[in-house]
Amino acid sequence: MNQRTPSADFASAKELITFTSNRALAVEEALIFEIGRPDVAGVDLDEPEPFASRLGGLERQTPIGLPGLSEPEAMRHYVRLSQKNYGIDTGMFPLGSCTMKHNPRLNERMARLPGFGDVHPLQPASSVQGAIELMAELSNWLLELTGMRAAALSPKAGAHGELCGMMAIKAALQARGESRSVVLVPESAHGTNPATAALLGYRIVAVPSRKDGTVDAEEVRKRLGPEVAALMLTNPNTCGLFERDVIAIAEALHATGAYFYADGANFNAIVGKVRPGDLGVDAMHINLHKTFSTPHGGGGPGAGPVVFSESLAPFAPLPYVIFEKGGLRLVEHASEAPAPARPFGRLCAFHGQMGMFVRALSYMLSHGGDGMRQASEDAVLSANYVRASLQDLMSSPFGNRPCMHEALFDDHWLEGAGVTTLDFAKAIIDEGYHPMTVYFPLVVHGAMLIEPTESESKASLDLFIAALRDLAMAARRGDTARFAGAPYHAPRRRLDETRAARQPVLRWRQAPAQPETLPEQ
Ligand SMILES: Cc1ncc(COP(=O)(O)O)c(C=O)c1O
Repeated sequence: MNQRTPSADFASAKELITFTSNRALAVEEALIFEIGRPDVAGVDLDEPEPFASRLGGLERQTPIGLPGLSEPEAMRHYVRLSQKNYGIDTGMFPLGSCTMKHNPRLNERMARLPGFGDVHPLQPASSVQGAIELMAELSNWLLELTGMRAAALSPKAGAHGELCGMMAIKAALQARGESRSVVLVPESAHGTNPATAALLGYRIVAVPSRKDGTVDAEEVRKRLGPEVAALMLTNPNTCGLFERDVIAIAEALHATGAYFYADGANFNAIVGKVRPGDLGVDAMHINLHKTFSTPHGGGGPGAGPVVFSESLAPFAPLPYVIFEKGGLRLVEHASEAPAPARPFGRLCAFHGQMGMFVRALSYMLSHGGDGMRQASEDAVLSANYVRASLQDLMSSPFGNRPCMHEALFDDHWLEGAGVTTLDFAKAIIDEGYHPMTVYFPLVVHGAMLIEPTESESKASLDLFIAALRDLAMAARRGDTARFAGAPYHAPRRRLDETRAARQPVLRWRQAPAQPETLPEQ
């Protein structure tokens, strides 16, 4: 490895200004509206034949304002944008709680097979029996891996899955004639958990974490009562730790008639090792884009299937697949659902994201049960390797005990250094890595959550660790210049994150034309 000391170079780095704003071959990209001209088009269409308008005077009178680009301009714009996108195919992406693992290309190939790629949700079931069989097969794998009874594939993301699972819980309670009003959520939970419960009208009661970062069954018991509908618990939790009291917690919930919702976003750490159904879980979503390597779609298309225990299975939403004499059938309406099913309704118009189903099943079949178990073990091993390699320089909130799939550090070790967690993360960008997750989980001060995943080789982990050690030593010796203005080498430096969050500019508006000013003679 190159052993140079970069701090001096960083300290002297100046804002580089060029005539074009480009930096060498890294081209500055304007918005498409700023490049385009209304009189330009990338296609050459014949003038339409004269026709009689049937809009009765409602025709648009002003231009629609589309950006006009020639074909090469449009190509260059989108190719350049794609090159600015740092992704798991570009380099290591250690974003904790997000599981940025490699998406095998075999999955992509399978998803593009015409029978799957061209399928349409409105085709008659008789013409898409293969696609329906794939959904049934995927459900079977999910049920086998989780030890649960029924699956709903339609939710479009983890958070959507939470909504689905909690709606089933609400329906089950209503069927019992109960309308409980409280949902328990541990302090360390992902924000989507309380948001989901609140969306369904529940009051949230927080459960504190123990000093070791896990939930104490006793604290749950203290908050239980006839008003409590469910507990939403992530396991392994957002601190990267396995909840050791999980069985006692499940028993306490069930004893009071409450349900156990498990946030399965971190299922990737335990696949093939533990079945949530065996721990007493009643409903759990699974983020296919995390555990089963389907791409993170930047908001979609995603998939967050939910699995249900025996007691909640009847309330699973429509549609779902059943086997019957003539073949496979998607049950689309509550009136067709065989007893004792009482589906709570449906979550979205169609059946879910077929492309994600194909990719996830392809991952499962190509890895097999043993391969998936190995992936979980490797993910945990990678995280512990990172943790153990940095523990002499960086502090951990819960001591140096082994973690699951992500290594958590706090900012205790930065005290007095003049460097914050945010500075440290920004400096990682200069080293060519997407930063880790920062300031989450909220229960940890200045949290830095690193999830290396099973995808990284030892060489890749070693380089990442060496880069972090170099930065950590710079911070500890007070080399604040390396951090204060970081990232120095990114096309954009520090943004005003508060302003971006509070006053987001979400719509482009044409700037008023400026008169051209000539240089004074
Ligand atoms: C613990 C946990 N729960 C829920 C979610 C929400 O999942 P999604 O982003 O797929 O909606 C996440 C996502 O990061 C998560 O980490």
